[in-house]
Amino acid sequence: MPQDTILLAYSGGLDTSVCVKWLQEKHDARVVTLTVDLGMVDLEDIRSRALQTGAADALTVDGREDFVNEYVFPALQAGAIYEEQYPLATALGRPLIAKYMVEAARRVGAGAIAHGCTGKGNDQVRMDVSVGALDPRLKVIAPVREWGWNREEEMEYARSHGIPVEERKSRFSTDENLWGRSIEAGELEDPWLEPPEDAFAWTNPISKTPEEPTYLEIAFEGGLPFSLNGEEMRPVDLVQHLNALAGRNGVGRIDHIENRLVGIKSREVYESPAGVVLHAAHKALESMTLSKEQARMKRHVAGEYSDVVYNGLWFTAHRRDLTAYVESAQRHVTGSVRLRLHKGNCVVVGRKAAKGLYSHQLATYDRGDAFDHRASEGFIAIYGLPVRTQAREQGE
Ligand code: ARG
Repeated sequence: MPQDTILLAYSGGLDTSVCVKWLQEKHDARVVTLTVDLGMVDLEDIRSRALQTGAADALTVDGREDFVNEYVFPALQAGAIYEEQYPLATALGRPLIAKYMVEAARRVGAGAIAHGCTGKGNDQVRMDVSVGALDPRLKVIAPVREWGWNREEEMEYARSHGIPVEERKSRFSTDENLWGRSIEAGELEDPWLEPPEDAFAWTNPISKTPEEPTYLEIAFEGGLPFSLNGEEMRPVDLVQHLNALAGRNGVGRIDHIENRLVGIKSREVYESPAGVVLHAAHKALESMTLSKEQARMKRHVAGEYSDVVYNGLWFTAHRRDLTAYVESAQRHVTGSVRLRLHKGNCVVVGRKAAKGLYSHQLATYDRGDAFDHRASEGFIAIYGLPVRTQAREQGE
């Protein structure tokens, strides 16, 4: 009987390397791996590691453009920041990885997909639910969730199966893509403890940031950033540039006690230099271009949208409907924002919009004031009418 094929999402780390062997043994399967580059990944290096570990084939895909164009920037337009802190880098990457996995599973004739997520996190939910949405016939196997080994037992399995076990590079568990770096475990599990400096990799400590501030100008069209300091850039380049510029100034560190979908509170530290800058800039431009009511509705939608992304519901009708609102609300979010990066702070210092609702004529206290001060009397007479009526009839 020919062996079944299982497609494994492969990162090159210990967990997914052990998964290769475990799937071969337990499921007597032919294991093909897929590694997705959403930024910061050396595909060739990981591919050869997969083959060395015994994968029948090792596929790769450069997903950086799709990631920024179809996941990161739509989430930016939505103002999606989970619990007002986390720009959702890891959470946005999972549905795209799931999508590539489903496509590749079809190509290689795999009836099952496997991933290295643990049974405690959000990522297992995002992967399983996304695969189910895209192809409900595919089986999903999560070996780490099944085997229940501690680290020592896993290392032992690795050694006895000839999987190279590198000395642990860091005591933290990290995940990274273009939109940010997620860091947890180690002493970060003590929420009282300040994150140690070596938890960070993309952002300078304040003591190493430049003395002089860095000024930036970001231009948007329809809520999408397209140029930096007057230079048009492709989305991936823009994000990379901002990560470097903001990271150098110590901008983008986030320390979050978050509510996981599985009911646990966890402490995760993030670095998202481009995310922090772009969200600040985008919000500033919306403050110029959305009416008070649109802005209020947009805040509701942003909260809902970020929960949907965090909770693994990317491929749902609900997310699509929210996106339709967001896209409509972005049609006049066109203009430029000036920001100052300095010593860990990102401050908006200027904004302008072609079809902005800010009117100097109406706002000014100087000469040229076009606001009709006398009209306020009538406005207040009617606006305050129910208040006076109630006070008269019922007291305070
Ligand atoms: N807490 C984040 C999320 O749920 C990141 C999860 C992965 N983090 C990690 N350090 N491996 O999206």
